[in-house]
Amino acid sequence: MLIAERLASPHRVVGREVVCLTQVDSTNEECRRRAAGERQNGLAVCADGQTRGRGRRGRDFQSLPGRGLYLSVLLRPNAPLSEVSAITAWTAVAVCRGLERAAGVRADIKWPNDILLEGKKLCGILTELGVGESGTLDYVIIGIGVNVRQSEAEFGPELAPIATSLAQHGVTLGRGALAEALLEELDALYRDFPRESAAYLAEYRRRCVTLGREVTVLRGSAATRATALDIDDGFGLVIGLPDGTRQTVTSGEVSVRGLLGYG
Ligand code: BTN
Repeated sequence: MLIAERLASPHRVVGREVVCLTQVDSTNEECRRRAAGERQNGLAVCADGQTRGRGRRGRDFQSLPGRGLYLSVLLRPNAPLSEVSAITAWTAVAVCRGLERAAGVRADIKWPNDILLEGKKLCGILTELGVGESGTLDYVIIGIGVNVRQSEAEFGPELAPIATSLAQHGVTLGRGALAEALLEELDALYRDFPRESAAYLAEYRRRCVTLGREVTVLRGSAATRATALDIDDGFGLVIGLPDGTRQTVTSGEVSVRGLLGYG
């Protein structure tokens, strides 16, 4: 069981207030409900289990009780809507830093924002925006799901070949210690955003295992084979096509040959 009093800290903006629930539909959804009433910057919500954990692209996120860390934070960054799309990529860097510090594992990023451990998905990130009536940014909800204690059998036949957990790598870290490390890194991110872009971009590029690999970009029913060449300044994926031209992909499904992470 995660304990709010142990996770909250008056020294941080992110996680100054923490809500820990036994079970919720989705911690992102709980953050959104609370945002409507109170608009608290830095509120963190975590849960032992989620009944309707959400992934990107309308997928479900498996959220077995007591097995993963399901954490969402509500932020109200001082940045225009146009700059806020980068916050998911920044979060991928922050999560890698937290995982390395708390769990001692080397985490990689699969573009755009899956966190992999030895080629399998360890963590997913789902960012959702709240936009006010005037079209300006009201809040950002960053949801992070880390696979902590799942066994291969618990993942089930669909996920087991492509997902991994810290426990499967011999890491026995408690979810509370991991949550604390992530809140600290997210607090640093909040203070840096969007000023320290160059540092986050450089680290993102260093950690991005998509670069240099053959990829298939799926847009609707069209599949394009290409080579991943670079990450541009807006965290888009620059791909080289067989005819020698370059394109930048900012969204869409990208599968990477040799990497198994899902989502
Ligand atoms: C993905 O990989 O597709 C994103 C997964 C994001 C899962 C986390 S778990 C905490 C938060 N609550 C949700 O419903 N989703 C995010």
